[in-house]
Amino acid sequence: MAVRDVLKMGDARLLRRAEEIRVFDTPELHALLADMRDTMHALDGVGLAAPQIGVNLRVVIFGVQRNPRYPDADEVPQTVLINPVITPMSGATEDGWEGCLSVPGMRGLVPRYTRLRYQGRDEYGALIDRTVGAFHARVVQHECDHLDGILYPMRIRDLRQFGFSGVLFPEQNVMDE
Ligand code: NI
Repeated sequence: MAVRDVLKMGDARLLRRAEEIRVFDTPELHALLADMRDTMHALDGVGLAAPQIGVNLRVVIFGVQRNPRYPDADEVPQTVLINPVITPMSGATEDGWEGCLSVPGMRGLVPRYTRLRYQGRDEYGALIDRTVGAFHARVVQHECDHLDGILYPMRIRDLRQFGFSGVLFPEQNVMDE
């Protein structure tokens, strides 16, 4: 287990389509997840995708505990999601501020589907099938985008709504995803 370096925007490895996991519950997959958890917790992130540590596989983790520092953030269960499939429940979207461990120190206003179903597997191969909304849905979309080589700045509609966290939100401690 180790905290791994997180690739930063500009690294071509963040722009690839990641590959499906074919075999579950292997020592290699468990070791990858241990490194991803260590890295996400060390950097205080709410999510991490394997490509962000240079591993080109369709594996993401995310989760948010209720935290008094972020009273408006919903609780999101700690989740391992592999080979995810996202199905929006409608075309409705909403704008929200996002950050990313691969784009440190920045925030941007990003439109995301408000409500969606996501399906996939955990590290043991067990099926996951949830219908979620709001912040949970936003986190899932952000992390799964990493598996298709998409970073959140590519989805910002108005680049005037993109900038340095400390300038945009001088009063707040904001999260990276
Ligand atoms: Ni990210």
